[in-house]
Amino acid sequence: MDVDAQSENEDVPRPRPQLTTNCGLLAEVPECLPTVAQWLHCEWYAARGMSPQETENLLTERMRRSRLPMCAVAVRDSEAVGTASLLAYECPEVHADPRSVLADVFVPESQRGQRIASSLCRWMIDRAAAMGVEQLFVMTAGPPVLYKRLGWRTVQRNLPGPRGQKITLLVLDVGASRLEGAPGRRDVTHKIDVPPDRRTTTDGQRLTDND
Ligand SMILES: CC(C)(COP(=O)(O)OP(=O)(O)OC[C@H]1O[C@@H](n2cnc3c(N)ncnc32)[C@H](O)[C@@H]1OP(=O)(O)O)[C@@H](O)C(=O)NCCC(=O)NCCS
Repeated sequence: MDVDAQSENEDVPRPRPQLTTNCGLLAEVPECLPTVAQWLHCEWYAARGMSPQETENLLTERMRRSRLPMCAVAVRDSEAVGTASLLAYECPEVHADPRSVLADVFVPESQRGQRIASSLCRWMIDRAAAMGVEQLFVMTAGPPVLYKRLGWRTVQRNLPGPRGQKITLLVLDVGASRLEGAPGRRDVTHKIDVPPDRRTTTDGQRLTDND
């Protein structure tokens, strides 16, 4: 390419990279199953003594559309970029009967900090509400910031977890969170609200504020 042609091309505004990320059920994007299974296996299930195949089988059980357990995936440009599951979970330390729990929230390291997990959580809140779930629990060994920002409140701290971890149990009143203006609610087209300094292209490059 000659120099003139090159500089001419540099003046042409480049199209904005497509940052749209959509949340949906794993049942609707079954091709994402191996990726999601690998994430969860490496993050949690291998340490619980499960084989990769057992983790994949567990996720296959979650490929449902209208009843628990179900798994959601965030997808960008046909690539899975996060996951969350909605389970009926027993926590006998706190409740005698099973409760609806948001679990296995995971975003691969290269995609973190772009509000993908927050968007998946909101999507799951809407899904839970549509199924008549009134309270949605979540358990975390990490900082509960992500969940508190979306309206969850702490029920109990320091529950015994695997490998000596201390677990915080939080609850969200699903109906209240869906009221206009409540923290868990946004009018959800399920597009990710990416903070300007954290935008990345699909190949992981940071974008500047001018992009
Ligand atoms: C936690 C996790 C899902 C966040 O994904 P993400 O797409 O980067 O999340 P968002 O961009 O929507 O929100 C980021 C917030 O999550 C919070 N966060 C980070 N690690 C967390 C953790 N282990 N548990 C809960 N929240 C966490 C941060 O405080 C951050 O807030 P900040 O932006 O004010 O710093 C991701 O870091 C991950 O997959 N971690 C490993 C698995 C894990 O710990 N999952 C949570 C199980 S309860």
